[in-house]
Amino acid sequence: MDKMVTNNFSAGFFKGRKVFITGHTGFKGAWLSYILSGAGAFLKGYALRPGTKPSLFEEIEASLEIDSVFADINDYQHLEDALLSFQPDIVFHLAAQSLVRRSYQQPINTFETNIMGTANLLQALTKLQKKCVSVLITTDKVYENKEWLYPYRETDRLGGSDPYSASKACAELVINSYRQSFFHPSKQDVHNKSIVSVRAGNVIGGGDWSEDRLIPDIVRSLVEQKDIAIRNPGAIRPWQHVLEPIEGYLELATAAHQHPTQFDGAWNFGPATEDHLAVLSVAEMAVKVWGSGTLDIQENPAAVHEAGLLKLDISKARNNLNWKPRMNTAKAVDRTINWYKSFNNRTASAASLMESDIVYYSSLIPR
Ligand SMILES: NC(=O)c1ccc[n+]([C@@H]2O[C@H](COP(=O)([O-])OP(=O)(O)OC[C@H]3O[C@@H](n4cnc5c(N)ncnc54)[C@H](O)[C@@H]3O)[C@@H](O)[C@H]2O)c1
Repeated sequence: MDKMVTNNFSAGFFKGRKVFITGHTGFKGAWLSYILSGAGAFLKGYALRPGTKPSLFEEIEASLEIDSVFADINDYQHLEDALLSFQPDIVFHLAAQSLVRRSYQQPINTFETNIMGTANLLQALTKLQKKCVSVLITTDKVYENKEWLYPYRETDRLGGSDPYSASKACAELVINSYRQSFFHPSKQDVHNKSIVSVRAGNVIGGGDWSEDRLIPDIVRSLVEQKDIAIRNPGAIRPWQHVLEPIEGYLELATAAHQHPTQFDGAWNFGPATEDHLAVLSVAEMAVKVWGSGTLDIQENPAAVHEAGLLKLDISKARNNLNWKPRMNTAKAVDRTINWYKSFNNRTASAASLMESDIVYYSSLIPR
């Protein structure tokens, strides 16, 4: 097996720990699994089989040490059995129907998976009789979007117009309800659980082949030498490299394990203020790095609603967790597009490209 240990994420905390990851076959889950596998954690993943072609998980599977359960998060008994038989120290919950546009086509599946899937996981955790930290991944889209200039703070009102955003806002309510009802910090010595939720921005990085996401759509068009359709050129989003929130999730899990009641609650992980950029700016950066490509702006007033302006306030993570963004968007786009270029040219494997990004990112973490 082609196993590599190069990262200094969370300084060795995960070595020998049992980590249960839902959604390990997805884009972020594959990155997280790769890092934790390299860090020497014992991993068990629970997710549907990979849903994209290619799939990052399949590309790197041979480099991973992970026990995979391919099952539905909506199958409560299966999930409970997988969790309890593993007895994790840490849980990362990423399994979700993660696409805004698909949520318009499949609202019931989106609500079921994102809300009841989260409730199922939390319910299974009530049966776990040991210390465990759980990091539940929601999204920056959980806030009631007021289309204003101000970045949203963790204390802002939850909401969501489209089914995806609403489902994740509901997941936050479910998480908070379980925290108040079953995992209250004042009873930490009884239940031994820490429950945190994390809200990251629009994540980019090599190996995402999802439909209807900006960078994968751009790369598909570039590879096929087609014009690149840009749907919402003026929409402002918090762009960040996938390694940024992953560092945040790992740091948060470590901190909550060491100080079980201090880190409960919700955490934003987004870019620096100046990296809340328009879709068009990011698309232009991507084309420049690729070296060719034509953008085709397609503003369609009849298209489904997507938020126009979304910014995240990251003061809490900066101040209380000492986490901060390490790459600006230009650098993140540069590494991402070059990742796809090398993958597409078959000059490097997905695992070696991830490894190179992890080595670079690790060099930015002061130790
Ligand atoms: N990618 C982003 O820009 C972004 C931004 C903010 C938040 N998020 C959130 O981060 C998490 C991971 O995102 P991603 O980009 O890796 O998504 P993804 O779509 O690539 O992966 C989703 C994962 O969830 C699993 N899954 C979906 N439905 C399931 C079900 N019914 N039962 C079991 N597993 C199921 C899939 O198999 C896959 O492993 C999601 O919760 C997503 O909402 C993503």
